[in-house]
Amino acid sequence: MKIYEQTAQLLREQILSQQLRPGDPLPSIRELSARLKIGRNSVIHAYMLLEDEELIEPRPRSGYFVRPRPASLPDDRTPQPRKVELGAMALDIIGAAENARLVPLGSADPDARCAARQYFYRRLSLHARQAASLDQSNSHYIAPPGHRELRRQLARRHQPFQPGLGADDIVITNGAQEAVTLALLTLARPGDIVAVESPCFYGTLQCIEALGLQALEIPGHPQHGLDLGALHQALERWPVKALLTNPSFNNPTGACMPDAAKPELLKLAAQYDLPIIEDDVFGELSHQGSRPLPVKAFDRDGRVLLCSSLSKTLDSDIRIGWMLPGRYFEQVNYLKYVTTLASPAWCSRPPPTFSPTTATSVTCGRSGAVTSSAWSCCSKPCIATGRPKPSRWFPAAASSAGSSCPEAATATASTATPSRPVSASPREACSPRTSAIVTASGSITAPSTTARSIAMRSERWAS
Ligand SMILES: Cc1ncc(COP(=O)(O)O)c(C=O)c1O
Repeated sequence: MKIYEQTAQLLREQILSQQLRPGDPLPSIRELSARLKIGRNSVIHAYMLLEDEELIEPRPRSGYFVRPRPASLPDDRTPQPRKVELGAMALDIIGAAENARLVPLGSADPDARCAARQYFYRRLSLHARQAASLDQSNSHYIAPPGHRELRRQLARRHQPFQPGLGADDIVITNGAQEAVTLALLTLARPGDIVAVESPCFYGTLQCIEALGLQALEIPGHPQHGLDLGALHQALERWPVKALLTNPSFNNPTGACMPDAAKPELLKLAAQYDLPIIEDDVFGELSHQGSRPLPVKAFDRDGRVLLCSSLSKTLDSDIRIGWMLPGRYFEQVNYLKYVTTLASPAWCSRPPPTFSPTTATSVTCGRSGAVTSSAWSCCSKPCIATGRPKPSRWFPAAASSAGSSCPEAATATASTATPSRPVSASPREACSPRTSAIVTASGSITAPSTTARSIAMRSERWAS
């Protein structure tokens, strides 16, 4: 940015955040150039720019003043930054998810009977036994950015949309939640404004609340996600430090930003030098076979901090998350180090049979989404549909014949019960767990009818 643009930006922020209010005089050209130690021409240019933007106006023989707000922009209709006040409500929702007598509407989890998960834990216990018998005199901290082999595998996993990504571009985190927290800590200070797609996961709002930030809700379309027009207006008006968005299968709406809109978003972000925190935790949930491209795939200047984890595709309990922090790598890595020092060793080791070329579908906790995860146990997609017994598995195709997955074949042959529809669609195969919709103001709405009916049906199966 040129000096006059920086000066204009400084004043713009003060005007938009109302530190300088309508009618307030601006410093004289001489005064501001002396105060900022810049040339008078730079100040004149900056004032001309702000005048073009109709933020300030010259008054004859009096200098420049902040323009009164036009009557056509009513304050109460445009989003306002505000403190998030969820208090203990979100903890209550999470707590309720553990109550077996309640449909867990507040938590989005993979089905615990997922074959990939069970296989993962079997391999993990093998690893633990091997680690116990290792003849090592000392244990050691696995410091950030985390276990190299895990990062290498993740980098491979990201290759299709992030060619050239290396292990050194990734920071391992304790789930996506820590990744989002570290991103916010890196980008904003208490009191700063963060634009957040609305509605969003309540954990995101809790982060914003805990860090003392102000949330500026940007409405999301139920199908296409973030409203770029509304974002543009907000960026015009407020000094936004970062945008937090969940573009692929938003929680709770399931909205997906079209790929064509992603370069637009980045163009807008570049215009306002806005970093984007992309919560991609549901990115692999797709009925279409291939996942939607993350915004990060279009990012050419490192402004996207992609946060993800295995929580929705394998198990939230293993707490394996990661971030691609782009140009913020050093800050994020340092903050990870000072906040948690290291990751648990078992958590930092790569899942034993990770293969970026194979896929397993697992049931998931969101309305109608199914995972195509690369943490696999077999070479053909499987969908967990069984209810009471573990290892009741069916191939993803409508017919169960012809699967090359031995577990699936055995399970289909031996445990399918006539009382359950074995040809359940991926949508029907989802576990009852769905999310409630919580906004920054704390209102909750019920999830979709489909999700509710699946939940109720599953409850009947359980009883
Ligand atoms: C949108 C979103 N982001 C992040 C998280 C937290 O993910 P993790 O378990 O990896 O911390 C959740 C959990 O439900 C979520 O819905």
